[in-house]
Amino acid sequence: MAKELNFKQELVGLFGKPVAENPTQVMVEAAFRHHHLDWRYLTMEVDPSDLGDAVKGARAMGLRGFNCTIPHKVAVIKHLDGLGESAEVMGAVNCVVNRGGRFIGENTDGKGFVTALENITDIRGKRIVIFGAGGAARAIGVELAIAGASVITILNRSSGRGEELAELLNTRTDVDASFVPWKGDFAVPGNIDVVVNATSIGLYPDVDARPAVDVGSLRPNMVVADVIPNPPETRFIQDAQSAGCRVIDGLGMLVNQGVIGIEYWTGITPDAAVMRHALEEVFGI
Ligand SMILES: NC(=O)c1ccc[n+]([C@@H]2O[C@H](COP(=O)([O-])OP(=O)(O)OC[C@H]3O[C@@H](n4cnc5c(N)ncnc54)[C@H](OP(=O)(O)O)[C@@H]3O)[C@@H](O)[C@H]2O)c1
Repeated sequence: MAKELNFKQELVGLFGKPVAENPTQVMVEAAFRHHHLDWRYLTMEVDPSDLGDAVKGARAMGLRGFNCTIPHKVAVIKHLDGLGESAEVMGAVNCVVNRGGRFIGENTDGKGFVTALENITDIRGKRIVIFGAGGAARAIGVELAIAGASVITILNRSSGRGEELAELLNTRTDVDASFVPWKGDFAVPGNIDVVVNATSIGLYPDVDARPAVDVGSLRPNMVVADVIPNPPETRFIQDAQSAGCRVIDGLGMLVNQGVIGIEYWTGITPDAAVMRHALEEVFGI
């Protein structure tokens, strides 16, 4: 009997502006091919003034979901039908999932980071320093707290955002959070288990920049993580490796948040190694 033909792919994608430099499509479509899923992931530039129409269009065209990136992570919420737990605490959505016709906002950024860290160490009871208080730091802080970290210290250039994040963590989770003003090179206390750069310092093309940290205070028992995906081997990661620390690069977070998004949309757990390999190919590493 002739094979049944189906020319209608399931659609997911990305709304953002700018988006041309965003490599998510490469890793997601690599997973679709690997798992023989007849799905497509489209990278769509959506102006903030068109976001409501874009979400209506997504409903009309039956998209199975979509990622949101800058500047839509907060603004998209008013166009959705509900929020997952961590997206609700963070007040930001990076992954929308069509669940039976209802668009539910999730946040997979921090969950991806947690998966990458849990591959190396148990998070429960850990003492953690986070540099930064923007969207990435917020997502990571909330998920680390939900995953059972005991202490989170936030350092940030501007104190308003840093204090706000520490307060959010203290009021909405069980973690013991505090804000420390970031002045000069920060000496990481010896009892810290995990150090995270969640700022944009080190992002291409500013590849020689590194967060103000006293490199001599990094100890081999610490795990050091960086959110910067491009280049994955930042100066901070190199310094941490020289100090003997175990490291997690920004591709770890990027790939694992993508894994969770694909799980939400398709129900299939994709092969993270296939996705990472696809990104390494485009970044030439
Ligand atoms: N790997 C992944 O999957 C993944 C996912 C999401 C984001 N990211 C990366 O995370 C980075 C941050 O994204 P975001 O959404 O959090 O951005 P954001 O909301 O704009 O926050 C940027 C953060 O970096 C700090 N910062 C920027 N330049 C600085 C400098 N020169 N000195 C000190 N602090 C500085 C800001 O401090 P102020 O508050 O003082 O401005 C703020 O805390 C981006 O590079 C993005 O590529 C990676």
